[in-house]
Amino acid sequence: MKVLLTGGAGLIGMALRPLLAARGHEVTAIDLTDFGRGDKDLSLIGLDDRTGLEAIIERDRIEAIVHCGAISGPMLFKGQPLEIVKANIDGTALLLDLARAYGMKRFVLCSSISVYGDVGPGRIDETTPLRPTSVYGASKVTGEQLIRGFAAEYGVDGVSLRIARVYGPYRRANCHLGSLIRDAAAGRATEIPCESDFVYHYVYVDDVGEAIATVLEAPSLPDREYNVGAGEALTMPEIARIAERAVTGARPVLVPGADDVPDVQTEFDIARIGRDLGWRPRFDLAAGLDDYRRHIEAGDSA
Ligand SMILES: NC(=O)c1ccc[n+]([C@@H]2O[C@H](COP(=O)([O-])OP(=O)(O)OC[C@H]3O[C@@H](n4cnc5c(N)ncnc54)[C@H](O)[C@@H]3O)[C@@H](O)[C@H]2O)c1
Repeated sequence: MKVLLTGGAGLIGMALRPLLAARGHEVTAIDLTDFGRGDKDLSLIGLDDRTGLEAIIERDRIEAIVHCGAISGPMLFKGQPLEIVKANIDGTALLLDLARAYGMKRFVLCSSISVYGDVGPGRIDETTPLRPTSVYGASKVTGEQLIRGFAAEYGVDGVSLRIARVYGPYRRANCHLGSLIRDAAAGRATEIPCESDFVYHYVYVDDVGEAIATVLEAPSLPDREYNVGAGEALTMPEIARIAERAVTGARPVLVPGADDVPDVQTEFDIARIGRDLGWRPRFDLAAGLDDYRRHIEAGDSA
């Protein structure tokens, strides 16, 4: 398929470009910036430029949109909620309208586990009520609802992936796992503020890419929302023990403190996407850390 990929310079976008190409798709990657990489295969354009986006869609005869471009976490753009609304809600609405106008075959939105908010103990599946605790989370809820509205009213075949905490090469936002690997290489310890019983749901970026490819290519979509995670609920002491074994030289030092996304989410159920579409994660935390370390050592991670 001829695919327009937004956020093509970001963490998920950088993993998706080779992954989608290897599966036979023709990818047109766009982003606001290439972060100084001199990336000739990326078109620089904002998510508010309808005329420019139309020109790209017509030039490359785009048939589907994978929408990764966004202000990508609740810890970003603090104090600037309307910037989040503009990028994440208005940007998604414009792309959905382009999908409608050009009769595209599929629209994939990167939504987030943040749509659920501070759930507390218990299992989170796709029927769990959406109670976001941030404007970011609310922007993802709105994006998902726009997907449903455009599907029902205009037949745009969209789907939202509620993605857990992503780690891997090209992540620029703060990430304890990336710090652990880089600090290990530099012979440093890594201080990690945390509560010892707080649960993390990490997922490796390559698994997220495979999940996106799966929903992009599915002949039909039994549902419009799917959780995507690694199926591992881990506390920081557990993560630290895995990292010490998986990454030579890793020295996590846990100190009291809160995470920058403090929603309590203890169990994240990823059964629906497996049952409906056959996707399952391939990387547990040890395997993901090992792959991430190899990318960092090879210098293809920033
Ligand atoms: N990283 C995570 O842990 C995570 C978890 C759940 C969901 N998501 C979602 O997945 C998607 C991709 O996330 P990521 O981790 O690759 O983020 P990222 O920040 O690495 O990449 C997002 C890209 O979007 C671009 N962008 C931002 N605003 C834009 C605008 N107005 N116009 C054009 N481009 C713009 C940025 O330049 C950036 O390269 C996002 O929608 C994010 O909310 C990410």
